[in-house]
Amino acid sequence: MCGIIGYVGSGRASQIITDGLKRLEYRGYDSVGIAVRTGPGRLEVRKDKGMVEEISTALRFTSIDGNLGLGHTRWATHGAVCKENAHPHADCSGNIILAHNGVIENYSKLRDDLASKGHKFASQTDSEVIAHLIEENAKTQPLVKAFIRSIKQLEGSYAIVAMGASDTEERLFMARRNSPLVIGAGKGEMLCASDIPAMLKYTRTFIPLQEGDIAVLSRHGYKIYADDGSEATRKQITVDWDVEMAQKGGYPHFMLKEITDQKHFINESLASDVSGAWKLIDAHERVDIIAAGTSYHAGIMLSYLLQNSGKVAQAFIASDYPFIAKPDKKTLLLAISQSGETADVLQALRFGRGCKKIAITNVVGSTITTLADCVVFLNAGPEVGVAATKTFTAQLAVIYKMFYGKDKLKELSGLIETMLAHDGEIKAIAQKIAGKENAFFIARGRNVPIAYEGSLKFKEVTYIHSEAYPGGELKHGTLSLITEGVPVVALAPKDETLPKLFGNIREAKARGAFILSITDDDEVKKESDISISLPPGMDPILYPFALIVPLQLLAYHTSVLRGINPDRPRNLAKSVTVE
Ligand code: M6R
Repeated sequence: MCGIIGYVGSGRASQIITDGLKRLEYRGYDSVGIAVRTGPGRLEVRKDKGMVEEISTALRFTSIDGNLGLGHTRWATHGAVCKENAHPHADCSGNIILAHNGVIENYSKLRDDLASKGHKFASQTDSEVIAHLIEENAKTQPLVKAFIRSIKQLEGSYAIVAMGASDTEERLFMARRNSPLVIGAGKGEMLCASDIPAMLKYTRTFIPLQEGDIAVLSRHGYKIYADDGSEATRKQITVDWDVEMAQKGGYPHFMLKEITDQKHFINESLASDVSGAWKLIDAHERVDIIAAGTSYHAGIMLSYLLQNSGKVAQAFIASDYPFIAKPDKKTLLLAISQSGETADVLQALRFGRGCKKIAITNVVGSTITTLADCVVFLNAGPEVGVAATKTFTAQLAVIYKMFYGKDKLKELSGLIETMLAHDGEIKAIAQKIAGKENAFFIARGRNVPIAYEGSLKFKEVTYIHSEAYPGGELKHGTLSLITEGVPVVALAPKDETLPKLFGNIREAKARGAFILSITDDDEVKKESDISISLPPGMDPILYPFALIVPLQLLAYHTSVLRGINPDRPRNLAKSVTVE
């Protein structure tokens, strides 16, 4: 959701920034822009609504000369999607230029104050106010001080990268609060961006900023100032992800690549250290699990496993947690977030003040890692497709490792490979359902979170309305929607849930539903219009892993058949950094 990239060094800033903007696309956006300092006192700004490829080509981004610049992908919050509201934004004189992610809550008051001092605004955004605020403060003090002073006047969330046309040096000014921003340290060049993959081509050394940090970058290095204005040192991290991992590698879409990648990454996920997390869980009376979307589905699975082991545990939708829960010192907060930057999740964690906290995340250096007492990494490599796929499986893997140990899960990679081999069959099934308007996913017990996730994946990339239920719930209302030809996807492995689920399959079938089952049971296969087979004799604890893979492929192929780009479904962002 919005992306920023900045560069200072001896390279061609416009080229590096345009390349970074392409890598930030997956976060979700509607407009794009670039600003490059072309010489002392001179800035060139080009921006418009639209996609990076289209706009950067039409406006010839890479033709701009200069070694200092910044770029932005905007996901509208304040003001319509239009050229004027696209970033970067400038002050009145065109000297200060900046890009901002987040929401400035007191922008209206600041704007009125600045307007009364004569400032003229060119957009409806909250972000533009920051450029004018810096301009105002710079009337009486040097730019660094003016920048710091301006940041202190902001309320809300922000990741800001700014520069000055007539600054005495080539510098980038950065600030972050509740919105991610990372420094990338290269040789004789410095970068900054909303996330690491945008900078991987240039460096593997990163310095994530902490909440309230302000930083100044020049080609020779960086200085960080903490919330209280004192100079601060922040941990430098090295990541072993390479550029290749964040590219499509011959696949038509990231989503397909990432579904396929699961067979490799699952072993990395299983290598993750869960012992610290388990100790904390053991030491608490109650576990509140906080997450959103796909990660929430993994959270439901965790709550089932914890409840099954006798623990008091509940999974909460992160955005609702503060309205529902009353965590105390006996409560352990366990947050699951692929990106580690989801605003709803971070807010819920902060709400649990005084509680011990565990974070399960994929992103080293993400904000969530700074809030938690113990972090479990997914080790799934960068996930670029908006739809979470391999990271859901990785979440399940680390969760299952806590309960069953690594040995019990050593067949996982092979199992995923076996399920991936159904790809051709699933593509043919997708052809049968791509023209439908509704779909329903049913399961029971531990398979229910997988049905939820299968349904979410399906609706988000196909735009077909879809719902998921524990099979027993159908007769309490939803059955009225099951009519001739409506697809019902039944997760029907031969476990203790099958006898009852079989009843639900028959109920749906009797109303004319098109039954697609994923099963290892011959009777279910006979009752179904079409089936995807689970491997015979497989270990029942691994059923959720075997079920999710065909559901991901079904969503993917149906999406492509409907002419949708599954990597970038409409209205959605990979990293949801606003509440
Ligand atoms: O990064 P997070 O896991 O915190 O993201 C939470 C949700 O936005 C995310 O899981 C979303 O539901 C998926 N991308 C959907 O595929």
